[in-house]
Amino acid sequence: MAKVAPSILSANFNNLIEEIKSVDNAKYLHIDVMDGKFVPNITIGPLVMKHFKDEIHNMVMDVHLMIADPVKYAPDFKDAGADIITFHYEAVKFAEPTIEEIKKLEVKVGVSIKPLTDINVLDDLLDKVDLVLIMSVEPGFGGQEFIPSALDKIRYLAKARIDKGYKYLIEVDGGINKETAKECIEAGVDILVAGSYIFKSNNRKALIEEIENDN
Ligand code: DX5
Ligand code: ZN
Repeated sequence: MAKVAPSILSANFNNLIEEIKSVDNAKYLHIDVMDGKFVPNITIGPLVMKHFKDEIHNMVMDVHLMIADPVKYAPDFKDAGADIITFHYEAVKFAEPTIEEIKKLEVKVGVSIKPLTDINVLDDLLDKVDLVLIMSVEPGFGGQEFIPSALDKIRYLAKARIDKGYKYLIEVDGGINKETAKECIEAGVDILVAGSYIFKSNNRKALIEEIENDN
């Protein structure tokens, strides 16, 4: 059954802990880290994230690094409580050593691709990662529209996992709502990152359940 990962990018930053608690029936919490270099926006870093660790105990911390130097900063995110650290294929020169470095931190490692990046660039990495994150919007901002070509990438990953016996989770991020969630679930996704759709709701927990039960 697919799971929702609320993205705190769309939360009210006046009271982040309460905002996170309002979605804590979800298994995963998605944390978007942007550096103003890899993407044209800046969000939060480990100094903010480490406060979550003291207050939130029942969620898997899913960290999405949209930054130019993931290897340099991954240890800080591990210390701040990350359970999964995902980097962008486009951000690094060599993806394989990046995977190895992140694995050394004893966290799960994910690799992500932007909407215009061909899925086949990941072929040699699929047996080495715990998660593949398919971007269904250009990374940088919440509230954008879902790009349907993400569905073919999800199908490709779901098929490769069966054919080759790979173990990664398939995650999709951007423009997820009830309809696009359904399409992604049909395509074979495991984790649906949802920001604005969840946080604009007055009944966030029910909405998460609704999406998850619609499988
Ligand atoms: C965009 C981020 C997403 C974003 C999704 O770069 O990676 O996680 O928060 O927001 P929505 O669900 O509003 O498209
Ligand atoms: Zn994200």
